[in-house]
Amino acid sequence: MSNSLKQLLAAHQARTETTLDHWLPKPSIAPATLHKAMRHSSLDGGKRVRPFLVYSAGQALGAELSQLDGPAAAVEFIHVYSLIHDDLPAMDDDDLRRGKATCHKAFDEATAILAGDAIQSLAFHVLSHDKNIQVNAERRLQMIDHLAKASGSRGMCGGQAIDLESVGKNLDLPALENMHIHKTGALIRASVMLGALSCDDVSDTQLKQFNHYANCIGLAFQIQDDILDIEGDTTTLGKMQGADIARDKPTYPALLGLDGAKQRAQELYQEALASLDSFDDKADPLRWMAEYIISRSN
Ligand code: IPE
Ligand code: IPE
Ligand code: MG
Ligand code: MG
Ligand code: MG
Repeated sequence: MSNSLKQLLAAHQARTETTLDHWLPKPSIAPATLHKAMRHSSLDGGKRVRPFLVYSAGQALGAELSQLDGPAAAVEFIHVYSLIHDDLPAMDDDDLRRGKATCHKAFDEATAILAGDAIQSLAFHVLSHDKNIQVNAERRLQMIDHLAKASGSRGMCGGQAIDLESVGKNLDLPALENMHIHKTGALIRASVMLGALSCDDVSDTQLKQFNHYANCIGLAFQIQDDILDIEGDTTTLGKMQGADIARDKPTYPALLGLDGAKQRAQELYQEALASLDSFDDKADPLRWMAEYIISRSN
């Protein structure tokens, strides 16, 4: 990772932590166990790739960081909720997440289900209430709608449903990419688009270019996640290595082999860069993030 990316990632991570902490109910407020569970899974962990994308897309178009805090927190909250539910025994049944016990292990299953539910609601509360979001009401509704669609049955939840239905089956490449584009790509795309939509004067052409960039890195992100399940180690990952193979999950390397998966990630990276050709160096953080997504070790 370049020094520029390292510094910016750390700065955005710190900013995200402060914003999430601000919006999360205090652990002393009743119902205290639910609030503790929400904080356990939201705070102190994660790469915060999605907030980074919100900040970087918005800043590429000239937005202030303060305008982007709300959308950044909203996408991260949806992501955290998706991870809590993804780890439940009824889904992937994982015990370790971000180097800590998963929510249902640290608390119990019912609390984990409710913590996920409440964090999802909190995401939409932030997006509808945050006073620092500067756009007009119509644009704010567009942002809320975008996040709702990206999270729902034709976005992340839909992708998760395909994932569960596909266990033990041999998907062909279009079916596998369709699953990845929904379960992971949709929220990555929403992150980039919410950053861009935070700028009132973004053009349709710019939105299209960002959309294309986001589609490429969203798919590449899940391909790298699948690769790390094979090549990574549990301590660095902060989640159990080998979990996909153990559960016979349909993954990119299972279909194309490790080399095929890496080659596809590389192609998507090049395509992501090309879609940013008409942007100046204010879009460099988006370029750095595309490279990080396919080269990261956790
Ligand atoms: C993991 O996401 C789940 C997927 C969508 C592949 P991340 O790799 O972004 O997880 P954190 O947020 O850094 O823990
Ligand atoms: C999870 O995909 C995607 C979502 C949470 C929506 P994975 O099941 O591959 O994520 P990890 O590997 O558990 O982080
Ligand atoms: Mg899963
Ligand atoms: Mg999982
Ligand atoms: Mg995975």
